[in-house]
Amino acid sequence: MKSIKVALGDRSYTINVGANLLAKAGVKIKQIGLKNQVIIVTNPNVASLYGDYLKTVLENSGFLVHVIEIGDGEKYKSLETASEIYESLSNKHATRDTLVIALGGGVIGDLVGFVAATYQRGVHLVHVPTTLLAQVDSSIGGKVAVNYGNLKNQIGTFYQPRLVLSDILTLKSLPQEEFVGGLAEVIKSAIIADGAFFEYIENNVDSILNREMKALEAIIYRAAVIKVRVVEKDEYDTGYRHVLNLGHTFGHAIETVSKYKIHHGAAISIGITMATKLAVTTGFLRETDHLRVKNLLRKIGLPTQFNNISVNRFFNAIKYDKKIHSGRLHFILPRSIGDVIVADNIDPVLIKGIIKNG
Ligand SMILES: NC(=O)c1ccc[n+]([C@@H]2O[C@H](COP(=O)([O-])OP(=O)(O)OC[C@H]3O[C@@H](n4cnc5c(N)ncnc54)[C@H](O)[C@@H]3O)[C@@H](O)[C@H]2O)c1
Ligand SMILES: [Zn+2]
Repeated sequence: MKSIKVALGDRSYTINVGANLLAKAGVKIKQIGLKNQVIIVTNPNVASLYGDYLKTVLENSGFLVHVIEIGDGEKYKSLETASEIYESLSNKHATRDTLVIALGGGVIGDLVGFVAATYQRGVHLVHVPTTLLAQVDSSIGGKVAVNYGNLKNQIGTFYQPRLVLSDILTLKSLPQEEFVGGLAEVIKSAIIADGAFFEYIENNVDSILNREMKALEAIIYRAAVIKVRVVEKDEYDTGYRHVLNLGHTFGHAIETVSKYKIHHGAAISIGITMATKLAVTTGFLRETDHLRVKNLLRKIGLPTQFNNISVNRFFNAIKYDKKIHSGRLHFILPRSIGDVIVADNIDPVLIKGIIKNG
C-alpha cells in the first residue's frame, strides 16, 4: 500500500492506494478519530459488488452502518437525487458527527461529496473510489457538484474528504471501456508533469492492460501524486489548476458534438492528441513527442482521431465551452513530455487546421 499526504492546512487528509484496502476500512477510519454512525452511499451496481462487504467490515469494527442506494448514471448527479439523500440522512437521524462514505465512481463521489458538504453545513466525508477515473482524478482535490439543466457541475463547492481509500482490487470488475477511459487521464497526468512516468507507462502497457496489481498501484499512485501537488498549489482553481485540463478543451467539444455518445476518456484521448499536435504547430513541442503520445494512446486502445465532423460545429463547441468556463481561448500545451504551458490567444486558423487535419 502507498500513502499520499494532501497538505491543505486544517483540511489536510491522506490518500491510500493499494490492493484489498476495503478490508482495512474500519481500522483506517478509526485512525482518523471517527467512531459513530456511518452511512454508505452507493449505486445498485457497486452495492452488489462491494456494498455488503464494506458494510460488514465496518460493522466488525463497531460502527453502526446504513447503506443508501441511488440510481446508476450521470443523470442521477442532480439536485433531485441530492434531496433524496438528504431525506434518507434525516430519517436516519444523521448529525454532524455522522460519516458519509461515497462508494463508487466519479458520479457518486461528486454527488455524495456535495451532499456531505451541505447537509447540516458539512458532515465527515470519506471517498472510496471504485473506478480508475475516480481513483486518479475525481476523489482528489475537493471539487463536488451536481449537474443543473444541461450544464455539468453547475451547482457545487469545494469540500475536502477526511480520507480517500483507493482499493485497486475493485478495478478488476470495471468494464474495459471505463478502465481504458481512466487510462487517458493517467497518461494526461504523465504528460503534464512527469516524463519518467510516461516512459514507465510505455514500458508496461501489457501489465497495465492485464490489470496487474503492481502496475496498477504504481500508475494510480503516481497519477494521484501529480494531481495532489497541483491541488495543493491551487485548491480553489484560480489559475494553476487549469493545467489538469490538458486535452479537455478539444475533448469537451468532442463530447458536445457527439452528444455525449463518445466516452469521456476516449474524447480526452483524441483531445490530448489534438493538443499535442497544436503544440507542434505552434512551435512548442517536437513532432516526435506528439507521435510518442499518439502511439501510446493507440497501444492502450484509445482513439486518437475524430472523423467526419464539420470544422465550424467543432470550433463553435470549443468557443462555447470556453465561454462557460473561462471566457478566454487559451490552451494547455505540452512543451515536452512532462511539462506544459498555458498558451493564450492561439490563432483560430491554427485550431481549425487541427480540427480539419487531426
Ligand atoms: N470532482 C472532480 O474533480 C472530477 C474530476 C473528473 C471527473 N469528475 C466527474 O466524475 C464523473 C465520472 O466518473 P466515472 O468515470 O467514475 O463514472 P461513473 O461514476 O458513472 O462510473 C462508471 C460506471 O462504472 C460503474 N462502476 C463503478 N465502480 C465499478 C467497479 N469497481 N466495478 C464495476 N463497475 C463499476 C458505475 O456503476 C458506472 O456504471 C463525471 O460526473 C465527472 O463530472 C469529477
Ligand atoms: Zn477528464
